[in-house]
Amino acid sequence: MLVQLIYASVGNNMGAAAINTIVAQGRKHNLERGITGVLCHGYGIFLQAIEGERAVVNQTYAEVLQDERHSDAQLLYFAEVSERSFSNWALGHVKLEKLNAPFVLKYVERLPLTPSQISGASAKAMVLDLVATAAVGHR
Ligand SMILES: Cc1cc2nc3c(=O)[nH]c(=O)nc-3n(C[C@H](O)[C@H](O)[C@H](O)COP(=O)(O)O)c2cc1C
Repeated sequence: MLVQLIYASVGNNMGAAAINTIVAQGRKHNLERGITGVLCHGYGIFLQAIEGERAVVNQTYAEVLQDERHSDAQLLYFAEVSERSFSNWALGHVKLEKLNAPFVLKYVERLPLTPSQISGASAKAMVLDLVATAAVGHR
């Protein structure tokens, strides 16, 4: 059974190199586990969507929650799905601040972002919008 999970968290003083390390590590693990997803970051937060087999998604999220490179994670969205939305990416990478400034404002009231401020429905709509507009980097 396929599920999708989306959460938001706050990065702990992370530069571009540290984020690239997370993306590389995540891609490798996700490929091995049949997980696909997208990691967005910028305006003070991480916003990540992952999808795959339910037990594997739960396990991956549990591991990610333990990671000290971020904190204040909030689960925004969890649902069973009949098909994947991110099947092109083991872990796609989106730098939110490189997009046109108003893009993120389509889905939130204000910037910078906090995990508490983003609704599950908006988070899902935003990541689907990113996929549809080809704003997601790397396979
Ligand atoms: C914001 C963020 C997103 C992450 N995303 C993933 C992911 O999608 N898949 C994954 O396996 N690990 C991800 N990680 C890394 C895990 O938290 C954890 O460090 C890793 O699975 C441990 O790998 P290791 O046992 O090889 O050291 C992420 C970490 C952070 C901080």
